[in-house]
Amino acid sequence: MTSRFGLVLLVAVAPMVLAGCTDSYNSGPLRYEEAEALTKEPADKTKANLAGKTKLQELVRKGLTRLYGPNPREIHVPPGTNLPGGGIRLANFKRTGEGADAKRERIMVQASPAPGEPAVTEAQKGGYALYRLHCLHCHGVSGAGNGPTADFLYPRPRDYRPGKYKFTSTPNGAKPTREDLRRTISDGLHGTSMPAFEALMTPAEVDQVVDYVMFLSYRGETELALIEEATVSDENDPEALNDEVVNGVANAVFEKWTSVEAEVFNPPVPRTPATKESILRGRNLFLGYKSKNMNSVDCIGCHGIKANGDGASLVSQDVFNDVYFSGNPSTRLERLEKYPEKTRELWKNSLDDWGDPIRAANLRVGVYKGGRRPIDLYWRIAKGITGAKMPAHYPTLEADEVWDLVNFVLALPYDKTLLEGVTLPNPAAPAVAER
Ligand code: HEC
Ligand code: HEC
Repeated sequence: MTSRFGLVLLVAVAPMVLAGCTDSYNSGPLRYEEAEALTKEPADKTKANLAGKTKLQELVRKGLTRLYGPNPREIHVPPGTNLPGGGIRLANFKRTGEGADAKRERIMVQASPAPGEPAVTEAQKGGYALYRLHCLHCHGVSGAGNGPTADFLYPRPRDYRPGKYKFTSTPNGAKPTREDLRRTISDGLHGTSMPAFEALMTPAEVDQVVDYVMFLSYRGETELALIEEATVSDENDPEALNDEVVNGVANAVFEKWTSVEAEVFNPPVPRTPATKESILRGRNLFLGYKSKNMNSVDCIGCHGIKANGDGASLVSQDVFNDVYFSGNPSTRLERLEKYPEKTRELWKNSLDDWGDPIRAANLRVGVYKGGRRPIDLYWRIAKGITGAKMPAHYPTLEADEVWDLVNFVLALPYDKTLLEGVTLPNPAAPAVAER
């Protein structure tokens, strides 16, 4: 079972899921889509160059298939991923033996019994089947965030392939912990189309689907890293992208995930009680007044002086609505063309790391994507929001000052006068003052 290829799992969609379903996702063959760079023709189209590039592209495909399996129904789990049980929770069937001796075996799990009932063993649904049922239509077969529903949504579903996640308890840019993913999936992301799955899945099933999200991220990050590796490889080198190189690339991806559990960002001091004084200190920091150590932060540049998300650092709501929503999604860039260069520049600076335009949160409404517990907001403000431009503010601010900001943010929806008739530390400062 754990041959040199690691674990080989076979996925059969549970008959219940198949029965009666007529959508094309259940009829056609399921394939991973490839990263754009892998399907793009190189700029230099001389025959020799094309042949060389094609050869390297083939090597990338071969490496990916060896590590992760040829399609979503045949999952290979490479060694070193640190997925519990070597990845056994990803699927509902396991393949044992090789060649003519190969057998499929159902994966059974112990279901948690109702109080007083004897334990029962049941067939595991597996991360892939659950993902396919609940997540695929938004997040896509390869986790590229491009399922059939995605084009109708703002914000768009996450593309897992670059391995970047916004709502984590870890430093800016670091991977999420399992607990972060579990929380996102169980609670959903409020104010977006990402649903809460707490009522649809048992905790054990959420864990299975967490494994599958991680699997898709591992696969996607390995794909991007192999493409990167191919760009610096010589197609005539017989060692180019050989098994050892490919394993090395994959292991570097796994390491970032396995080391992160130790990096949870715990506040060094407990929360300051939400007194009027603390809230007002937070308000002043929000407005750009200096901190104890003489730093200042630029919340209003993005969130606006009324905190409704219309700061001058990002395009205005009107431009955003016009370009993004007022016509066919495929002609957005054409709609942008009519604006002056300054606005077009601002648009470019208003894109997140996945290439989509962002809006800063409206902090007057009390809806927080990443959760409304004080610790959630502490994490957002202290370490920023990966991929979405919101920067880390610790250690620029001290931990107790971050708590003051948390207290202010939590108070504002209930007391909007907090931002009425305020003066800015530097009223001559940029356009934000007028907003
Ligand atoms: C109706 C569409 C939809 C469905 C169904 C859906 N998601 Fe999402 N998901 C989203 C959107 C939209 C976002 C991004 C929100 C944002 O960036 O503000 C997201 C983001 C995420 C994130 C990233 C969180 C972060 O910290 O960056 C994870 C993980 C995730 N979804 C997992 C899942 C899983 C697992 C399922 C199925 C059990 C699922 N989603 C089903 C729409 C969906
Ligand atoms: C460079 C721009 C920028 C700056 C500066 C900035 N933010 Fe943000 N902030 C954002 C964006 C963009 C989002 C929305 C991200 C998203 O929806 O994915 C956001 C979201 C938030 C959220 C909501 C988190 C959630 O779970 O939905 C809070 C709270 C917040 N910011 C507070 C602050 C505070 C306080 C400051 C100053 C200390 C600040 N921000 C500075 C851009 C910024």
